[in-house]
Amino acid sequence: MIVIAHVSDIHIDAGERATARTRAVLRHLEELPYDLAAVLVSGDVADHGATAEYDRARELLTGRHPLVVCPGNHDDRAAFRAGLGPLLREDGDPAPTAPVDQVLRGDGFVLAVCDSSIPGKDDGHLEDGTLERLDRVLTDTPRDTPVLVAFHHPPVPLHTPYVDEIRQYGEDRLAALAARHPHLTAFLAGHAHTAAATTFAGLPLLVAPGTVSTLRLPWEHPGPDSPHVHLDTPPGVAFHVLDDTGRLTTHFRTVPVD
Ligand SMILES: [Fe+2]
Ligand SMILES: [Fe+2]
Repeated sequence: MIVIAHVSDIHIDAGERATARTRAVLRHLEELPYDLAAVLVSGDVADHGATAEYDRARELLTGRHPLVVCPGNHDDRAAFRAGLGPLLREDGDPAPTAPVDQVLRGDGFVLAVCDSSIPGKDDGHLEDGTLERLDRVLTDTPRDTPVLVAFHHPPVPLHTPYVDEIRQYGEDRLAALAARHPHLTAFLAGHAHTAAATTFAGLPLLVAPGTVSTLRLPWEHPGPDSPHVHLDTPPGVAFHVLDDTGRLTTHFRTVPVD
């Protein structure tokens, strides 16, 4: 059994709130009586893409489980690389502002992480080079090994108007790629700050809960002037479980903050 913890949108800033919530989630994972196959953090690591925020994030994210971290729209690629460098899993020596694409080749699975951020913008897109790298990873992985593909921006609307406007676009190219690789098992995303499950390209698309906040759904909104997010709901984590047949199950947990 392969268990991958999925954390997202920690939005580390100079204050204590995001740090305390992130520390609580990561401590929960550190103290599990089980060795996770991976901890995925699917973007919006630093709230403003600042060097000091990445320094703080690096300390919080360093732990005993294999870690994979991708950028989101709040991140800055060059600062992300400079600050989180020892934690990254990049091949070669990419330019500072190139997409931060990474691969974790685990025992019985592959986790391919694609940078869906667009420098200076809030919506998302996978560059042609990112799709080519993903195609190579899938081609090089044996067909009996499940591949999970992670990025920050969900490539479909989630019935969350605020986030849907800034989702991942150009998704037809990703769907066409998925159709060529039957061992692509599921897509994992963040950005929406709400635990959600839907489909994309006929495969599961699983969205991790937000660490720093939880999105208000349209039917929870008291009115147009109310905030987009709940700040009082606890942070959460998704656990993606692959069994010996490659079948995926996802559990969602909330984590109390001291
Ligand atoms: Fe976010
Ligand atoms: Fe985001």
